[in-house]
Amino acid sequence: MIIAITALKGGVGKTTTAVHLAAYLQEKAPTLLIDADRNRSALVWSKEDKLPFYVASQAGSTSLVKKYTHIVIDTQARPEIDDLKDLATASDLLIVPTTPNHLDLDTTAKTVEILESLNANFKVLLTQVDSRTKSGRDAREFIEEHKLPTFKTDIPHLVAFERAPQKGVTIKEYPDPRSHVGWSSYVAVGREISP
Ligand SMILES: Nc1ncnc2c1ncn2[C@@H]1O[C@H](COP(=O)(O)OP(=O)(O)O)[C@@H](O)[C@H]1O
Ligand SMILES: [Mg+2]
Repeated sequence: MIIAITALKGGVGKTTTAVHLAAYLQEKAPTLLIDADRNRSALVWSKEDKLPFYVASQAGSTSLVKKYTHIVIDTQARPEIDDLKDLATASDLLIVPTTPNHLDLDTTAKTVEILESLNANFKVLLTQVDSRTKSGRDAREFIEEHKLPTFKTDIPHLVAFERAPQKGVTIKEYPDPRSHVGWSSYVAVGREISP
């Protein structure tokens, strides 16, 4: 399966989602994460070779792709329509992460309009949801009102997600009492995609 993570905005959880879904899929079959973002955040995250799957740059991935069952693509920020068109054609599923922040949701609604016009197979993922505020509930209302196809699972806002990259690991390996909550949320998303 080829899954691309995309969004019109940066900072919404694309790389975090790409890394954790790749870790979930790797538990089922060989998975390659292609870092197609110029920032190379996923490549930096993988530098210490502690992630359970291989990360390649876009240029370095060409000869590798056929060796893997699953491919996850972390895409560049601010894609052009043509980039989205290419991604929609090349992948089985596009995932559009968004925070519950109103401006992010507004951008996500615009992204959804574009993806629908391209007949893309896509789903929105609500990330960085702070359970102490009602932002998650407000975001769900927005999502229902605008009929945005969205994963049932939310990804919670956890400090461990922010810290895991420095250690070069996923949240599953990051020592924190709440890490398992974060890992379970990506497992639940993974099950919505591939049970
Ligand atoms: N669920 C989460 N909880 C807390 N922080 C998060 C979460 N997801 C992402 N972050 C943090 O938010 C910032 C942006 O996330 P990132 O995955 O790099 O987004 P993008 O790739 O879209 O720019 C990073 O500092 C990351 O550690
Ligand atoms: Mg990124």
